[in-house]
Parts: sequence; C-alpha cells; structure tokens
Amino acid sequence: MSLRLSLVGLAAGLAFAAASPVLAAEAGPKPPAQSWSFSGPFGKFDQAQLQRGFKVAKEVCASCHAMSLIRFRNLSQPGGPGFTPSQVAALAATYTNIKDGPNESGEMFERPGRPADAFPAPFPNEQAARAANGGAYPPPIDMLAKARTYTRGFPTFIFDIFTQYQENGPDYIVALLTGYKDPPKDFPPLLPGQNYNTYMPGHLIAMPKPLNDGQVEYPKGPDGKSPVPETVEQYAKDVTAFMMWMAEPHLEARKRLGFQVMLFLALFAGLLYFTKKKIWSRLPEHASTH
Ligand code: HEC
Repeated sequence: MSLRLSLVGLAAGLAFAAASPVLAAEAGPKPPAQSWSFSGPFGKFDQAQLQRGFKVAKEVCASCHAMSLIRFRNLSQPGGPGFTPSQVAALAATYTNIKDGPNESGEMFERPGRPADAFPAPFPNEQAARAANGGAYPPPIDMLAKARTYTRGFPTFIFDIFTQYQENGPDYIVALLTGYKDPPKDFPPLLPGQNYNTYMPGHLIAMPKPLNDGQVEYPKGPDGKSPVPETVEQYAKDVTAFMMWMAEPHLEARKRLGFQVMLFLALFAGLLYFTKKKIWSRLPEHASTH
C-alpha cells in the first residue's frame, strides 16, 4: 500500500516537474547552452579569450558598470587572463584619477593607478549611476556571472548533475547581450528608456543594446586580421568568459583539486577493500558462520 502511495506521489511529482517548463516558458525562451572552455570537471579558462573579454569589459561595459572587486594585479595572477606584471602596471597607470589620501594637509588627492588598486568605478555611488541611466541601476558586473541563473527544468536538471553543468549564468548573459530584438507586434509600446530583450525576464531592460559588430578592436594575428570575428556574438562570449573569471578567479584550482580528491578517494577505497580482505581472512572459517 505504502509503495503504491509513493508511486502515485512520484508520478504526480514527475507530472508537475514536466509541466513546469511550460510555466518557465512564459518568462521567455531558454538561453541556448554555449560551449565553454571552463565547463566540466577539467575546465580551464582560455587566456586569449579572457584578454579579449577584458578589452570588451574595459572599453564598453565599464562605462556604466563597476567591477571593483577586481584589482589590476589580479589580471596577472595564475588561472586568469595572464597579463604580465609590467603590462598590468602600465594599464593601471593609464588611469590618472585614482582617489587617495588624505595627505599631510588632510586633503584627498588624485594619483595614477597602481597594480594594487581596484578597477575604477564609472560612478561614485549608486545614486549617481541611476541618475545617469534614467533611474535604472547598472549592477556591478564582477559577480553577475554567478548571480544570474535560470531554471533548466525537468529532465535537464537531472542530467546536469552528471555533466556538472554550472554555466547557467554565462549562458544567460550571452543570450541577454545578443537578445536585443524589435518587440513582437502584440507587445505594449515601449516607454522611453525601455528596450526589448528576448531573454530578460519580462522582456523589458533599461540597458540599451551595448554591443555592435566591429565596435571593439581585437589583437591582430600575423596576417593582419583578428583570429576571431569582431562580432556581437564573439564579444558577448568573450566578455562573459571574463565575467565568469571575475566571479570565480580560482575556478581552475578548484576543479584541479576536485579531481585530485576524487582520484585519492578512488585509490583509498581500493586500499580499504584489500585491507579489509586481509584482516578478515585471518579469522577461522567457523567463526563467521556462528
Ligand atoms: C549605457 C550604460 C550601459 C552599458 C554600456 C552596459 N550596461 Fe549593462 N546595464 C545597464 C543598466 C542601466 C542595467 C540595468 C537594467 C535594468 O535593470 O533594466 C544593466 C544591466 C545589465 C545586466 C543585468 C541584466 C539582468 O539580468 O538583470 C547585465 C548582465 C549587463 N548589464 C551586462 C553588461 C555587459 C556585459 C556590458 C558590456 C558589454 C554592459 N552591460 C554594458 C547599463 C549599461
């Protein structure tokens, strides 16, 4: 009887789970899954991609969004974009108005940036950021790759356990950055400052379409051309990879350690098995049957 009840419960649960993607679909289509170099148990950041992504973030996004959890020197740390310390020092020094102080006469002053400085924010505070963006607050983008997610629904979330899928945030951000469209005909008219986006929950976003083809110049290869296309799609993927690194700068070390721990546990389980066999083999035959 109780088995039957639990079967009914399971069936009801499955039916509900199967129905929930329909509910989720009202929030907009699901962001397509991208292929990321940092996904899976052996994932690693692609250094060239992080460097390009940083360029996009610095030249485009940083004019509205803060990313102050990042210090310039982080850009040369292992597992990151792999800039050299002298590149980082030169980059920091291009910012000439880093606020510091007080000096001996008690005044705040501005000086050129140093590697230990946080990445300068475009606005001094949230109110100023809102005032410049028609009342909407551009959230800091250093944690957004982890702070945004969406429901993948049944049965995907079960497979996700085995594939170690953790890229909801990056997939959503790429979809968002490439998801600016004209609103459908039956959509209510947009007010000033509103933009239509396929993937933003509710479809209305205050951020104007930030990326356009050819907007950011990528480093050229030996043939004088950028090895990757200078398109909205590519910018979106690169800047999102960089945002993922900002949100989890130790991702590579975490995955490497995780694999080593699993390997150790597997070896240890084998050793325990043979130890157990050895110890119990010493018992007389009849002792185990009584
Ligand atoms: C002109 C200013 C501006 C620029 C440039 C800009 N943003 Fe935004 N962004 C905003 C504002 C304002 C919001 C808040 C939108 C809202 O609340 O409707 C926002 C929101 C976001 C969000 C959050 C969306 C959500 O799910 O809530 C993400 C992600 C984002 N921006 C990424 C970027 C990236 C990446 C870039 C650079 C390619 C960028 N932005 C460039 C102004 C900007």
